[in-house]
Amino acid sequence: MNHFTVFGNPIAHSLSPKIHQLFAEQFGMQLSYTRSLSSAANFPTEVARFFRHGGAGANVTVPFKERAASLVTHLTARAERAGSVNTLIPLGLGQLAGDTTDGFGLCRDLQRLTGSELPAPQIVVIGGGGAARSIIEPLQAVGSKVVIVNRTRARVEPLRELFPGLQVMDLAELALAPKSGIASSGFILINATSASLQGADLDIHPGWMSAAELVYDMMYGVHATAFLKQAERGGAKVTADGLGMLVEQAALSFALWHDGLTPKTELVLKALRDSA
Ligand code: ATR
Repeated sequence: MNHFTVFGNPIAHSLSPKIHQLFAEQFGMQLSYTRSLSSAANFPTEVARFFRHGGAGANVTVPFKERAASLVTHLTARAERAGSVNTLIPLGLGQLAGDTTDGFGLCRDLQRLTGSELPAPQIVVIGGGGAARSIIEPLQAVGSKVVIVNRTRARVEPLRELFPGLQVMDLAELALAPKSGIASSGFILINATSASLQGADLDIHPGWMSAAELVYDMMYGVHATAFLKQAERGGAKVTADGLGMLVEQAALSFALWHDGLTPKTELVLKALRDSA
């Protein structure tokens, strides 16, 4: 039986084992998928040990995605530009490939939610860390214009060179009511900051929440995230958390490990929502 795991910290509540078991059932396949609590100091040796003992594939989550990108021997082009790896694939002879499926997962979920190949002409992404960076290229690839809005503008300014066409804004600009420009054509507002982890509200004018076609939080939880509560108070038309993205990114990881076998995601998402 093939063995998979997910490295992270914290990791106790990761839904990945359940998701991959549900995918495997669709193909009558048996696999084991565990959670690996790691630390910054131990992460590289634990990854090496896992694959030395025959691990068939691994996911990487917070806070090791950037570290994983510097650990692998082969990096896909999209993972290199994202500076982030969430999927590890053993190549044999100690070689390890790293890919990122997060951006793909987000795009699939936005397409599902909007029922459109082009989820919105413009996507406003709040945040400038690894989570934000890993979704820029896939969003641009489906045809959306991407605007990155970060508290620390200097952190995201260099991304303009890496992702041509990217627009960069200061979070302070969202504290004011939207004027024409972005708000006049359909846009989706995405939270890719870690502020929800602290339960903190962002300093955003409610006009941005009500003007967006969809307000999306890449975080998810049993209860609505702080950002989605804020969006609802601001009059958001539609809100969604990142559970759909989680399932979709897992589906692409699954395909990368199992010769392109693509599981159905709708039923898995429903099963997760029902058991929450
Ligand atoms: P990740 O890998 O999950 O993206 P990260 O690299 O630590 O995590 O980045 C966290 C992001 O959340 C950053 O964009 C950070 O803004 P700064 O670059 O200005 O630090 C953003 N963030 C976290 N807490 C925030 C808050 N309370 N208000 C605004 N932005 C916040």
